[in-house]
Amino acid sequence: MNDIIDKKKLPTHIAITMDGNGRWAKEKGKNRIFGHNQGIKAVKDTIEGAIEYGVKFLTLFAFSTENWKRPKNEVDALMKLLISSIHNETKTLLKNNIKLKTIGNTMQLPKKCQNELSECIRLTKNNTGMTLILALSYSGKWEILNAVKMILENYSNENEISESIFEQYLSTKSVPDPELLIRTSGEKRISNFMLWQIAYSELYFTKKKWPDFRREDLKEAIIDYQKRERRFGKT
Ligand code: FPP
Repeated sequence: MNDIIDKKKLPTHIAITMDGNGRWAKEKGKNRIFGHNQGIKAVKDTIEGAIEYGVKFLTLFAFSTENWKRPKNEVDALMKLLISSIHNETKTLLKNNIKLKTIGNTMQLPKKCQNELSECIRLTKNNTGMTLILALSYSGKWEILNAVKMILENYSNENEISESIFEQYLSTKSVPDPELLIRTSGEKRISNFMLWQIAYSELYFTKKKWPDFRREDLKEAIIDYQKRERRFGKT
């Protein structure tokens, strides 16, 4: 694909549902965990691509609230992978001026995972380049319900609650809404991801399964997005 990205029409925030690791592995006669391990290559290349193209915020849906229901060996393997990736890649994040952030109920993650994440968040907090947001133990419904509970504690008059107040209680507080949401593996579903934030996002679905996704695929998605006309309900 020889088209080029129009730097003036870049999405500020791209969110990705990384789907298809299990099916990718099965096609190759391997187990699902092999697919997740290979998914890391796609994560790295996509992050490098996002920096190269000038994206300011990149959110990766790495583990959903529903994923806790998977077999224990798969959950354990995903947690181990997360711990080792964060541990090994913190220096890369520092070198590339990337700030790490998480969204989701991270208190549910194993302690070791929480510690690794907090350390990386602390070390990268003054970085000014791209913000990488990992959605972990995250679901849109959980986040909205959580916001409602906190608002009930802080407000007694419903007239004081506006959209902008509500957004202050979401885990994406101070992060702009994604203009582009990508999902890999051919599934055309939202699956409880960023339900509030994607109200006006452009959706992009690719048949490629996550372990095969690379920066060129991200570029293709951005170029596709740039060809669309965004009207936000207006004519
Ligand atoms: C979806 O494939 C993928 C996941 C549930 C996990 C994604 C996690 C990684 C790529 C590794 C950790 C990430 C970071 C950021 C360090 P699936 O298992 O749902 O595949 P299937 O739909 O084919 O079963």
